[in-house]
Amino acid sequence: MATKRLAVFASGNGSNFEAVVRACQGGRIRGEVVLLVCDKPQAYVLRRAKEYGIEAFAFNPKDYASKGEYEREIVALLDLHKVDLVCLAGYMRLLSSVMLTSYEGRIINIHPSLLPAFKGARAIEQAFEYGVKIYGVTIHFVEEAVDGGEIISQQAFPYEGSDFDELERMIHALEHELYINTINKLIAESRI
Ligand code: GAR
Repeated sequence: MATKRLAVFASGNGSNFEAVVRACQGGRIRGEVVLLVCDKPQAYVLRRAKEYGIEAFAFNPKDYASKGEYEREIVALLDLHKVDLVCLAGYMRLLSSVMLTSYEGRIINIHPSLLPAFKGARAIEQAFEYGVKIYGVTIHFVEEAVDGGEIISQQAFPYEGSDFDELERMIHALEHELYINTINKLIAESRI
């Protein structure tokens, strides 16, 4: 089986990006991260990309006339790098039909809640403030709706504590494992 070529899109810290890169470099994923796409030129994830020697495309959406315009540039880069799978990892922007049609069925997203509960930004805070007792993570194919699309995997765990930082650490640790396992599952099932 050929090694799959992955692109990761991120806007911030990049812990999921790093987890996927390390899994590829360590042989846990039969793939290679060939490109990071980042819409925040100051984001910490760019430092991580540099550290791991991953090519990055950082852009400011304000420098473009429209979302379609910058997405066409991104699609050209993905094509150039022969990307098999796009992994959104804290990319806090909706994709337009330019990306969605060009890479249909080949874009996945990780979200820190049990969808369809707590969509959108600050999902962990939303769930914590709501007082849920079961938390979790979802990975799904990306469609136009916010955090919508076929669910590929979900994992839940109980938490009844009151320490938000501890909860957040638990969710991030679960995210990293689940993203790696889910990418492997897609590759193993020849879904990408
Ligand atoms: C992750 O928790 C990810 O699930 C979330 O952003 C965080 C990014 O963390 N994504 C969303 O909320 C998407 N709606 P990271 O930059 O450390 O990987």
